[in-house]
Amino acid sequence: MVFSPSFSYLTIISLLFHLSYFSSIEAQNDGLIVKLFRKSSSKYMPNIVQAPIHAYIGQHLMEVYIGTPPIKISGITDTGSDLIWINCVPCDGCYKQINPLFDPRKSSSYSNVSCDSSECNNLYSHECSPENQCSYNYGYADNSVTQGVLAQETVTLTSNTNESISLQNILIGCGHNDTGTFNDHEMGIIGLGRGPLSLISQIGPLFGGKKFSQCLVPFHTDIKIASKMNFGKGSQVSGEGVVTTPMVITPNPVSYLVTLLGISVEDTYLPYNSKGDASKGNMLIDSGTPPIYMPNDLYDRVANEIKNKISMEPIINDPSLGTQLCYQTNINLDGPNLTFHFENANVVLTPIQTFVPPKEGVFCLAINNQTEEEGIFGNFAQSNYLIGFDIEKELISFKQMDCTK
Ligand SMILES: *[C@@H]1O[C@H](CO)[C@@H](O)[C@H](O)[C@H]1NC(C)=O
Ligand SMILES: *[C@@H]1O[C@H](CO)[C@@H](O)[C@H](O)[C@H]1NC(C)=O
Ligand SMILES: *[C@@H]1O[C@H](CO)[C@@H](O)[C@H](O)[C@H]1NC(C)=O
Ligand SMILES: *[C@@H]1O[C@H](CO)[C@@H](O)[C@H](O)[C@H]1NC(C)=O
Ligand SMILES: *[C@@H]1O[C@H](CO)[C@@H](O)[C@H](O)[C@H]1NC(C)=O
Repeated sequence: MVFSPSFSYLTIISLLFHLSYFSSIEAQNDGLIVKLFRKSSSKYMPNIVQAPIHAYIGQHLMEVYIGTPPIKISGITDTGSDLIWINCVPCDGCYKQINPLFDPRKSSSYSNVSCDSSECNNLYSHECSPENQCSYNYGYADNSVTQGVLAQETVTLTSNTNESISLQNILIGCGHNDTGTFNDHEMGIIGLGRGPLSLISQIGPLFGGKKFSQCLVPFHTDIKIASKMNFGKGSQVSGEGVVTTPMVITPNPVSYLVTLLGISVEDTYLPYNSKGDASKGNMLIDSGTPPIYMPNDLYDRVANEIKNKISMEPIINDPSLGTQLCYQTNINLDGPNLTFHFENANVVLTPIQTFVPPKEGVFCLAINNQTEEEGIFGNFAQSNYLIGFDIEKELISFKQMDCTK
C-alpha cells in the first residue's frame, strides 16, 4: 500500500482528540519464561534478531511471521502492553482488516493452551471454555478489547544476516472478537511491555537478555521505508550522545515508567508541577500512543511558553482543530526545541517530534492536555531516537538518530 498523506494526517488529528493509548493489567510470573526457553536456548544464540517496523497512520507496525507455513502479520508495536495477539478466523464482530485473517486450522504449528496451565494464569482476565481452553479478555485504556483463546504458535523473525529464525511455542492470543480504535492495516498488537507474555519477555532470554531497541521513523515517512527493531544482544545503544534514565519499578508489572523532572522550552525551565516537585515514575514510555500526554498544570505552562517563543499567531478560528495549539504554515516550524529532563537524561525534541500536520498548511502541537497526574511519552516524541529498553538492568537509553537511514 502506498502511504497517502492527506488521509493519514486526518486520522492523526482524530487520534489527537481521542484518548488512544494502550496499557493493561497483568499478573507477573517469572516461572513461565524459564520453562518455555530451556529446551532451545543455545540454538539461536549467535544471531542478532530483528523485525522491520513501518509507520502507518499514528502507529508503527512490526512485521513478524506466524504459523506454519508462515503468514506475514503487521501488528502495532506497543511498549504499553504485553500480550501478542492477532485477528483469527472466525472473527465476525472484529474490526475489518485488508489482509486475509489468520486461520489457525491452516497452521500445523498451532495449539491451544489449556485453561489450567500456568501460562493461562498469566492473563489477568481469563476463563475456561467448555473444551477446557484458555479464553481471555484483554482490554486497553482506550476501551479497545481483544477476546480470544490463548495459543502456542511458531513466530518467525529475521537475523541481521537475513536468516529466518523460527521460535516455537510462543504464546499468542488468537483473537475472535477484537474491537476498538484500529485501522485496516493493523492485524493485531505486538506487546513489548515488561510482563511475561510480551514478545521480549518470551524471546529475549534466547538472544542475550530481555532487552530491545527501536528507532521509529516519523509519520511523514513513506510506508515502504522500514526501520529495525533489534532484540537481545543486538540492541545496545552506545556511542556519543547516549543518555540513560532508570526505569521506575512499581506494582504495575507491564509498563515502562520513568521520572520526568521538568521540561525546557528553549532555555526556559518548567518543573513537572508548579510546586516544583516530580513524583517517581510520572511518565509512561508508550509506543502505542501517538501524541504526548501531560497533566493540565504542566500542559498549560508548556503550551504557553511555546506560544511565547513562536512569533506567528496561533490559529483561533478553526473548530475542526479543537483546542490544540496550531499554526498556519506549509512547512514545519523551526522551533522551539523542547528538552525533556528525565532523571539523568536530557532528551531534546525538535518540531518533527512535537508538531504534526492534521491538514494541508497547518501544524499543531502534538501534546494532549489531560487530567491524570501521570504523562505519556508517545510515539511521535519517540521518533528519530534510537531507544533501548533493558528490562534486566532497568534502564532506558536514548540516542538521537535519523531512523530512515
Ligand atoms: C482451539 O480452541 C478453539 C476455541 O475453543 C476451538 O474452536 C478450536 O477448535 C481449538 N483448536 C484446536 C487446534 O484445538
Ligand atoms: C537482506 O535482504 C535485504 C532484502 O532482501 C537486502 O537488502 C539486504 O542487503 C540483505 N542483508 C544481508 C546482510 O544480506
Ligand atoms: C464482542 O466484544 C464486544 C466489545 O467488547 C462485546 O460487546 C460483545 O458482546 C462481544 N461479542 C461476543 C459474541 O462475545
Ligand atoms: C487544559 O485542561 C484544563 C482542564 O480541562 C483546562 O482548564 C485548561 O484550560 C486546558 N488548557 C488549555 C491550554 O487548553
Ligand atoms: C534544536 O535541536 C536540533 C537537534 O538537536 C539542533 O540541530 C538545533 O540547532 C536546535 N535548535 C535550536 C534553536 O536550538
